[in-house]
Amino acid sequence: MTSNPAAPGSRLASRLGFSDRVFVGPAARRVVRQIEDGLDLVESGLADELHVADSIADASARYLYEAGGKRIRPVLTLLTAQLGEGNIPAVIDIAKALEMTHLGSLYHDDVMDGADRRRGVPAAHAVWGNNVAILTGDILFSRASQLMSRNGERAIRLQADTFERLVLGQLHETVGAQEDDDPIEFYIQVLADKTGSLIAAATQGGAIFSNAPAEYEEPLRVYGEKVGVAFQLLDDVIDLSADPAETGKVPGTDLRAGVPTMPYLLLKAETDAASAALAARIDDGVARISDGADPAILDQPLAELRDHAVTQKTLELARAWTRDATAALAPLPKGTVRDALIRFAETLADRSS
Ligand code: IPE
Ligand code: IPE
Ligand code: MG
Ligand code: MG
Repeated sequence: MTSNPAAPGSRLASRLGFSDRVFVGPAARRVVRQIEDGLDLVESGLADELHVADSIADASARYLYEAGGKRIRPVLTLLTAQLGEGNIPAVIDIAKALEMTHLGSLYHDDVMDGADRRRGVPAAHAVWGNNVAILTGDILFSRASQLMSRNGERAIRLQADTFERLVLGQLHETVGAQEDDDPIEFYIQVLADKTGSLIAAATQGGAIFSNAPAEYEEPLRVYGEKVGVAFQLLDDVIDLSADPAETGKVPGTDLRAGVPTMPYLLLKAETDAASAALAARIDDGVARISDGADPAILDQPLAELRDHAVTQKTLELARAWTRDATAALAPLPKGTVRDALIRFAETLADRSS
C-alpha cells in the first residue's frame, strides 16, 4: 500500500494486497485509472444486482459479497479489456457475471468442504444452514446467467462452458482419482478445472467483449488457466507453512480433513523409507481425526511435511506454472497490459497468504 490513499493505484493495490508491484511506472497510471473506474462500475453494479425480492435471499446473497474478496477476476477482465475498447458495458457485465459465478461457487464450496469461515466471517451455511447456502449459490448462478444473456450467444456459451468445467473440477476433487489415473496429473486437472477455468474466462472474456484483436484470446485464456493452477499450488504450500497470524488459517486444514494436496501427493510418490513412514503417519492421523481424535495429533507430522523437500518441490512447481503462464503472453503486444499481467502472475507466485 502507498502512504497516500489518493495515489493512483492505491485502492486497487490495497484491494489486492499487492502493494504497487503490479502497476509500475508512469505509463501504467492511465491503465490503473481505467481499472479503478471499471471496478467502481462493477462494484456498484453488483451491489444493485445482488438485490433479491425475497428478504432472506437478499440478506444471504449479499452476505459474502459484502464480507470482502480480492476481486481478482474482475481486475483481470478489466485489465485485458484495455487491449480493446476498455470499460464498455459488455466488459462490465462480463466482469460482474464472472465475479458472481465465483461468489456463488464459494457458497457451495464451503458447504462441500465443511468450512466454517470465509472472507473473515462465518461461512453462509454456518449462518443460515446448508439448504439456504446452496440455494443462494444457485440464485447467484442464475443472476450471472441473466447478465451474460444480455451480451449474446458468445457470452452465454462462455458462462456455460466455464461453469461446467468448474463444477466438474469440484466433482472430480470430491470423487478423487480412480485406479487408472495418475494422482498428480489428476490433481493438476482438478485445479485447472475448478479454478483455472474461471480465471481463464476472466482474462479471455476481457479480450472478447472489448473487441480486442481475436488473436489475443487464446494466449490470454492459456495464461489465465495456468495462473489459476499456480495460484492453487501455492495455496497448498501456504496451507502448510501458514503463519496463522498472517493467513488467518490453521496450518494443514485441508490435509487434516483428508483432502490431498500437492506436497502430500508428491510425498506418496517418494520411494525412500522415511517418506513412506511420514505418509503412513499422516494417513493414520487423518483416519483417527475422522473418528473424532483431536486434529492437533497431526501437528508434528505436518511440520515435518512442511520441511520436507516435497513442499519446496510444490513451490517450484507453482513457479513453473507461473513461468508458463507468462510465456503464453508472448503473442501480445509489448506494453502496460502485458507487463501488468506478467507482474500479476509473479506477485501471486510470491504471496505468502
Ligand atoms: C478463493 O478464491 C477460491 C478459489 C477459487 C481458490 P479467491 O482467493 O480469489 O477468493 P476471494 O474472492 O479473494 O475471496
Ligand atoms: C475453491 O477451492 C474452488 C471453487 C470454489 C470452485 P478450494 O476449496 O480449494 O478453495 P478455498 O480454500 O475454500 O478458498
Ligand atoms: Mg474450500
Ligand atoms: Mg473446495
